[in-house]
Amino acid sequence: MFVSSWCHNVNLSSRNLIIALLLCLTLVYFSYSFNACLLNSISRSLQQSNLRNLLALPQRNDSKAAAAAAANLQLNLSSLAIYNSSTGLPLARIDGAPKYQLLRQQGLRPSRHLPDTLIIGVKKSGTRALLEFIRLHPDVRAAGSEVHFFDRHYQRGLRWYRHHMPYTIEGQITMEKTPSYFVTKEVPQRVYHMNPASKLLIVVRDPVTRAISDYTQAASKKADMKRFEQLAFINGSYSVVDTNWGPVKIGVYARYLERWLLFFPLSQLLFISGERLIMDPAYEIGRVQDFLGLKRVVTEKHFYFNATKGFPCLFKSEARSTPHCLGKTKGRNHPHIDANAIERLREFYRPFNNKFYQLTGINFAWP
Ligand code: A3P
Repeated sequence: MFVSSWCHNVNLSSRNLIIALLLCLTLVYFSYSFNACLLNSISRSLQQSNLRNLLALPQRNDSKAAAAAAANLQLNLSSLAIYNSSTGLPLARIDGAPKYQLLRQQGLRPSRHLPDTLIIGVKKSGTRALLEFIRLHPDVRAAGSEVHFFDRHYQRGLRWYRHHMPYTIEGQITMEKTPSYFVTKEVPQRVYHMNPASKLLIVVRDPVTRAISDYTQAASKKADMKRFEQLAFINGSYSVVDTNWGPVKIGVYARYLERWLLFFPLSQLLFISGERLIMDPAYEIGRVQDFLGLKRVVTEKHFYFNATKGFPCLFKSEARSTPHCLGKTKGRNHPHIDANAIERLREFYRPFNNKFYQLTGINFAWP
């Protein structure tokens, strides 16, 4: 009633105008909805094709590709859910951020695993450099700090140990480094019990330089430390080497290696030259990647030589996207040591070094 009386009250041209306006509004509404829908579906298919591209990276196999996808997405896996390995059900919170949804959509379930590979030593030979360099690889995930499970916390059990490992997805290698493993008597057997197929990385360097490095580290923590020469020898002369002094003792590599060889074949051990890790890090990291069955992703492009520091440094890493070197505690200046003391130590180590070359089949050519 109201509409018809109103219609009679307006002239023909205003009615036409209103109809045209209504038509226009309807058209605008439909075209907006259509565009929004179109944009949405384009963005979704772009996302999917991005992930597919990532997964299609030339890796060892599908799981390796998935690992690369995770790394490329720069995931902080530690914020992801814990899954029960048998039921596959999530046990804890999962981060709801859209970037993690991509992984979940692909059925990738991050979880913690016991390490497949250990850097077992040797202290002050370049173990931190090795870990930082190899973890540039997208298929390697490592515990950040030294866990000391096999030497100090063994009684806490494997569950505890696993909890200290980073989250990984299928195909990624879990790694841990604790340099004291190499010299601790019980450790080889314990590692064997965890996994007889464990891969073991051992960085070694001239034991005399290593001893000085070890001493320098200790002296940096203790102001009134005696001189190196006083600690390395008994009776104040350079004739008798104090083989019970830690920095000297650790350098008798052959003795410790023999214990490991009771449990692991040489083929599961890789020896990395600490000297070469400084001179040519890409070469040594290439060997490590081969040994671990990884594609050679970490190459010379990742390193530059920092003349001020006197050591190779990284253009970028998982933690930092700008060029940086290892921390202040790596690459310290060593104190001056009497040349006669050094010569005597070299003499002391020579037979042990030769034994070590024989056991490993590698001549490290230490002086
Ligand atoms: P110095 O600090 O005595 O020079 P670790 O990590 O096992 O404690 O070994 C420390 C040693 O790693 C250092 O001993 C240093 O010589 C060596 N190293 C090897 N590559 C290095 C790098 N890129 N930056 C700093 N130190 C490195």
